[in-house]
Parts: sequence; structure tokens; C-alpha cells
Amino acid sequence: MARRKIIAGNWKMNKTPSEAKELVETLKPLVNNPDVDVVYCVPAIDITTVGEAIKGTNVMLGAENMSDQDKGAYTGEISAAMLLDAGVKFVIIGHSERRGYYHEDDAFLNRKVLKAFENGLTPILCCGESLEQRESGVTLDWIRLQIKSDLQGVTREQAASMVIAYEPIWAIGTGKTATSDQAEEVCGAIRKTIAEIYDEETAEKIRIQYGGSMNAGNCKELLAKPDIDGGLIGGAALKPDFGKIVNYDK
Ligand code: 13P
Repeated sequence: MARRKIIAGNWKMNKTPSEAKELVETLKPLVNNPDVDVVYCVPAIDITTVGEAIKGTNVMLGAENMSDQDKGAYTGEISAAMLLDAGVKFVIIGHSERRGYYHEDDAFLNRKVLKAFENGLTPILCCGESLEQRESGVTLDWIRLQIKSDLQGVTREQAASMVIAYEPIWAIGTGKTATSDQAEEVCGAIRKTIAEIYDEETAEKIRIQYGGSMNAGNCKELLAKPDIDGGLIGGAALKPDFGKIVNYDK
């Protein structure tokens, strides 16, 4: 069975609640593609507003981060249960900006992945190499290590239901997209890694996104690749262009 494409916007630290509402309204007539899952991963402060604004549409709600703990004295943190109760379905875990700026390591991210599943959220687990790693030829080994570390203890049923986003760090916000062949090579290697950890059936089900300067101009070629099941979009998710990405097949 063909995997359903999933196009997610990662709004990062952009849009106040009132700006977020405006953006949802602008995008509303542009993101209706019945053949694609559409997700807005928004700042925590915008979740309630965006949740209200997308009511009655095909758009699903996502968060950009989540605590690895259930509840208690963790000032400033937001739990999986809080997200779920607010209508969130997906949560980005391990974005390279969190790994880099906030020193989130694989053991910590593995706890978050398990916590998301425990609470009925679907993780969008990010992985990706730096330019230095790509140039020294260790990309595939690095990605395999990230995936294997972050998925420890995840069951095959859970793995089959989740999303992995391959986001080369050098392509994020730089306007420098990976070529469709580069992206396909790594997404294919991720699928192979899933088959090694679990089995072929699980590997066929898991959805793998590409992220990194995806836009209206390059999305069609990327999304035509057999192992690329969607996109995780930063900058272009804040513009009407996002509608063109959602409708890449029209
Ligand atoms: P850009 O699309 O702005 O390069 O960001 C990609 C990204 O980091 C999505 O998570």
C-alpha cells in the first residue's frame, strides 16, 4: 500500500498568537489536498489559538518540543499529556536546533520519543548531518547511529506509525537544498535501518520526510522520490507558498 504523504510546517519561534491566527486564515483556502496529511507544528503559546483556527479543516496540530518528564517541578517545560489535552497529535523531537543550541543528546531524545508514544502522540523524529560530516563521508553512519539510539525500546507497531524527518543541517534555512538524489539516498538508508531494527513491513509503513530549504519550486522533484514521504518545512511554511507544497501533485 502506498504511504500517504505528510507535509508539516515547523513554524519555529515565529508568530505571536494573533499572527498565528492570521496565518492559519491566509493558508486555509490553500492547503486543501485530500490526498495529503497536513500538520502545523507551532510554538506552544500558539497551540490553543491554532487549534481553534483549524477546526473544520483537514489540518492537524503539532508541537515543536516536549518534556521527557510526566509532571512536576520542571519550570518552563510542557508535558506530553498537556499537549494531547490541547489537541496536539504530532510532536517534533530532536530538531537539529534543539540538539545544537540546547544540547539535547540521543539518550534524552530517546526518553522523549518513548514519552510521546506513552501518551498517544506521534513523534516526528529529526536526524541529519553537518556539512563537515557530509564532506568527510560519514553521513550514513551518523544517521544510522542517531536512528538506532533514538528508537531504543520503541516497538515495531510504534515505529510503523511514526514519522522520521531527514534534515541535513547545512540545508536548514540556508536556501541550499539537498539534491533529490542526496535526499533519497539518506531517506532510503533510514528505511533500510528501520528494516534492520524491525522488519521490512515496518520499514514499508514508516513515513520519512525531507526537510531543509524545501519550497514551492523544489518540492515536486523531492516528493517524487520513492523513499521521501513528505516534507518538514521551515521558512516556506510561513507563506502562501506552503499551499503550493501541499498541492505539489496538482
Ligand atoms: P527551512 O525550510 O527554513 O530550511 O527549515 C527546515 C527545518 O528546519 C524544518 O524543521
